Amino acid sequence: MFQKKILQRKAVLPKHLMVKRYLRRLQSYICHTTPAKLFNLLSITIETGLRREVVRGYPFIAQIEPTNICQLQCPSCPTGQGINPDPSGKMPLATFFKIIDELKDYLYEILLYGFGEPMLLKDIYSMIGYAAKNNIRTVISTNLCHLQQGDVERLVDSGLELLVVSLDGITQSTYQKYRVRGDVEAVKRNIEAIMRRKRELGRRDPAIQLQFIVMDHNRHEVPGAIEYSRSSGVEEFILKEVGPRYIPRLGADGSEKEQAQKLKVELNICPKLWYEAYIGWNGVVRPCCLTFDGSLGNINSENFDKIWNNERYTASRRIFRRNPVEAPAFPVPCFGCHLLSQWMDPLGKDR
Ligand SMILES: C[S@@+](CC[C@H](N)C(=O)[O-])C[C@H]1O[C@@H](n2cnc3c(N)ncnc32)[C@H](O)[C@@H]1O
Ligand code: SF4
Repeated sequence: MFQKKILQRKAVLPKHLMVKRYLRRLQSYICHTTPAKLFNLLSITIETGLRREVVRGYPFIAQIEPTNICQLQCPSCPTGQGINPDPSGKMPLATFFKIIDELKDYLYEILLYGFGEPMLLKDIYSMIGYAAKNNIRTVISTNLCHLQQGDVERLVDSGLELLVVSLDGITQSTYQKYRVRGDVEAVKRNIEAIMRRKRELGRRDPAIQLQFIVMDHNRHEVPGAIEYSRSSGVEEFILKEVGPRYIPRLGADGSEKEQAQKLKVELNICPKLWYEAYIGWNGVVRPCCLTFDGSLGNINSENFDKIWNNERYTASRRIFRRNPVEAPAFPVPCFGCHLLSQWMDPLGKDR
């Protein structure tokens, strides 16, 4: 079944675009490399292989959530559904600067989005600029429904390297089934305005990646979206599978223990505990974007190096030890992660 999906994917995706995508990222990593970053990358890779719980290396990718506020209501996004357990808010610039200052010697890339719409934040351009000034590649994912006067120019001048645009339909009736309250024509106008501006200035960046999440209701528009990606001249197009719906894990009665143990076997290892870190708008540090229930620390009250090897982080890494281990004595966000075991239809039904 998995293989069939891959084959379907290969059949529809223009291959040269996929190759170009990987080459572009590799080239960017080479441009951003320094001896210290390379040394860290090698160290943390070895420590991942050894499944070290206490590590000397640091993450080389950070996902930083500028805000968890959004104007749309996508039905399987916790923010869109109104069930995001975090309070709503925007990251102060001071928090962002602190993260970059502490991690700039290791970071190749930041993913500047979380569970919200980054383009709603005025400070987003200062954040991108600060990352670029510190030799870090920046990627943003956006619904691109709403840009203000001057935003196209600011975006093209910002130093952003990749703009992922969520476009899961090319007609309004299909698009709005998932992107509830979104306006597909506005998204297309904004894409075209950015491409025009880049051409006028002879710029390559930001590259635009159209991201189409394939669901039953929009599958028939995949060929049209590929055609649109060609005619608009965007650099990348990807098809994405539906991600897991947010489900609180490890129930108080331990009911998800069995599922978690099974997952551990299936997943083998989750490198995000070594390679990446997720930092919410309020400074909360988590292993990834799917782990709402449980914080590993807060960057506003502690330095990252104290959090990275604390009891909760090391207990999370311990779950992935080669020898079977008991459930952690206290709840950690990774225990019971349903990433591979529980997938649901974004519009409601289990699948
Ligand atoms: C939560 S969104 C935040 C960024 C922005 N608001 C957006 O939608 O692009 C982060 C990423 O998750 C993707 N996403 C949203 N719903 C999804 C789903 N059901 N399955 C997989 N990815 C999804 C978005 O397209 C986006 O690339
Ligand atoms: S546009 Fe992005 S943040 Fe907003 S509801 Fe949809 S997926 Fe969530």
